[in-house]
Amino acid sequence: MSATTPPPVPATPSADSGSYDSTLIENRVFPPRPAKELGFSAWHIGSLDEYRRLHARSVSDPDGFWREEAKNLDWFTPFTTVCTWNPPDARWFDGGTLNACYNCVDRHVAAGHGNATALIWEGEPVGPKGHEVMRLTYGELQNRAARAASALKAMGVKKGDVVTIYMPMIPELAVAMLACARIGAAHSVIFGGFASTAISERVSDADSRIIITADGGYRRGEVVPLLKNVDEAVASLHEQGHAVRDVLVVRRIGAGDAGFATGQARAGGTRYHWWHDTAAVASPDCPCAPVQSEDMLFLLYTSGSTGKPKGIVHTTAGYLAFTQMSARLTFNLIPDAGQVFWCTADIGWVTGHSYVLYGILANRVPTLMYEGAPNYPAIDGRPGQGERFWDIIARHKVTQFYTAPTAIRTFMKWGDDLPARFDLSSLRVLGSVGEPINPEAWMWYHTHIGGGGPTGGGRPIVDTYWQTETGGHVVTPLPGATPTKPGSCTLPMLGIDAAVVNEQGEVMPPNKGGLFAIRKPWPGMLRGVFGNRERFISNYWGRLKDPATGTPWYFSADGARTDADGYIWMMGRVDDVIKVSGHLLGTMEVESALVSHPAVAEAAVVGVPHAVKGNAICAFVTLKPAWLKTNGRAADEALKKELAAHVAKEVGALARPDTVRFAEGLPKTRSGKIMRRLLRDVAAGVEKITQDTTTLEDFSVVAKLRGDDE
Ligand code: WTA
Repeated sequence: MSATTPPPVPATPSADSGSYDSTLIENRVFPPRPAKELGFSAWHIGSLDEYRRLHARSVSDPDGFWREEAKNLDWFTPFTTVCTWNPPDARWFDGGTLNACYNCVDRHVAAGHGNATALIWEGEPVGPKGHEVMRLTYGELQNRAARAASALKAMGVKKGDVVTIYMPMIPELAVAMLACARIGAAHSVIFGGFASTAISERVSDADSRIIITADGGYRRGEVVPLLKNVDEAVASLHEQGHAVRDVLVVRRIGAGDAGFATGQARAGGTRYHWWHDTAAVASPDCPCAPVQSEDMLFLLYTSGSTGKPKGIVHTTAGYLAFTQMSARLTFNLIPDAGQVFWCTADIGWVTGHSYVLYGILANRVPTLMYEGAPNYPAIDGRPGQGERFWDIIARHKVTQFYTAPTAIRTFMKWGDDLPARFDLSSLRVLGSVGEPINPEAWMWYHTHIGGGGPTGGGRPIVDTYWQTETGGHVVTPLPGATPTKPGSCTLPMLGIDAAVVNEQGEVMPPNKGGLFAIRKPWPGMLRGVFGNRERFISNYWGRLKDPATGTPWYFSADGARTDADGYIWMMGRVDDVIKVSGHLLGTMEVESALVSHPAVAEAAVVGVPHAVKGNAICAFVTLKPAWLKTNGRAADEALKKELAAHVAKEVGALARPDTVRFAEGLPKTRSGKIMRRLLRDVAAGVEKITQDTTTLEDFSVVAKLRGDDE
């Protein structure tokens, strides 16, 4: 890439720039604090000026910047080219070979840190003997990953194969991912909250032949039937002609033999194996395989605006370079400094991939994994009131805590006195991710967890904006450098040329809403949508381009604005996906599940603002009168419940609609498109429908919908 003019640098933020209204929390500016005051030896980036210098350089001379940054990784063969950009295809660090497991584990052992803690795990149940805690050193993690890798090889897994992982938050999940990386196989992790249909769809799309799972997992005191869901998925895949060759099962629940012995073939010839008979005991002699920089590290499915989830492709070197750098700078990670990093996300989401596993271990800082829910159980085994997170922080002396706004709003609801009962003095940096954080939740976090005052002090909050597709943080404060404002994710990460633009690609003036774009490639960017080139281009690269050159820009599908200081404020998705409790869901996925119920003729799903979850799901459904009649059913509460449960069964509990409303018809445009904007207003109870309804087919439909309120 050639050097270009750096983008304008933001002015030093000040409380009185722009349209300042001192009554608004979001107009407050919280300056960074000296590292020593927070118990750090130093900040990686210690001032706004230094950030600006580095950021300007990172986007004007990306080759030079990333060549240097890539020195933080260990290479088997050095790369020859930093970046080749044939929009929308980027290749990073071509010519190089490396291994992700080696960079996260083996190199630390080789450097003499085999006895240092790599992973701290805590299970959800609390037994008579107290907490179930496991600590693994880098040496132990290496041993386990190598054994599991040997077992996978023995099962016929080869470089380039996709291994599906559907597991609870247990140490074997991290081991399984590292084992795949070790032999150059890609993993495709499916969140344990998804149902069997979601598994079979993803297994078949990825053409995956092996599934790693567990006999169950604990969540809120209940057992999640993971193996049963896998069994169902395997059976339905066989019916579709897709043979799953092997299923590897960790014993977590231990309820009997689960109906198989290792090596036994079950439905359709799929062989089942226990982890403890194979992966745990296979030979630890299995060195890390060198892979090409652009070899796929993993696939991770994310929701889009069609019913079918997209398999986002991430490759090895670029992803690792980006996650190790963003983890280090955003959380000020320092090895051997007594840090314990805790990200509360499930590994089944990208946040867990990048900041439970890869980015943290690559920096040789211990990462904490917790299996369960924040309110279960209380310390002595009683049903909890929501103190579990604070208890974990206090007991494990967590230094960096990374969670989601939906969790923070839940904590607010549970009361200020809960965290106040625990010693949170180990904390140094607080992170937020997954959805916009509202200024009130930011202030609560700052005050009650951060120990800050109304205008400053306390621990820095980093509100990190990014996506499955971006691999790592693309807009975030850096704790030693960036003054923060409640509700703003602030300024771009190093290497990210971000802008808020209109459809024509013109940069929007301050405080005018626009589309969030990234104008240059970055190492952590997605390399494709698995098996779907067309979707890759149309979803991300088809909407925005450089008005001068016509070069496509990356569009994240988020609306945003900048303020007078150049700070970025995310305004939410502009497509038909919604964030429910921080989880991305396509409205079409929920609609497809609804119309698969025999009573349903048509369905439309919208997000409604919700005080805790961010958004709640509201489903409008038209019924089949003939079905109701034949089955002696009515459009009643029982049917609403049944439909909500049907969605939970088809997609997963996270997709269960909060509200189901029956309608005689759905508002459509003359061309037959459902008018979701209108439904959003109806669902949110907006009194006067202000939107343009001139294209509406039959306005009486809307009147009826509103009258039909429960
Ligand atoms: C939203 C999660 C505002 C956004 C890492 C994005 C955010 C989507 C933030 C990606 C934030 C994530 N502020 N919005 N700090 N973080 N989002 O792929 O809409 O599960 O497009 O990745 O979450 O969700 P995903």
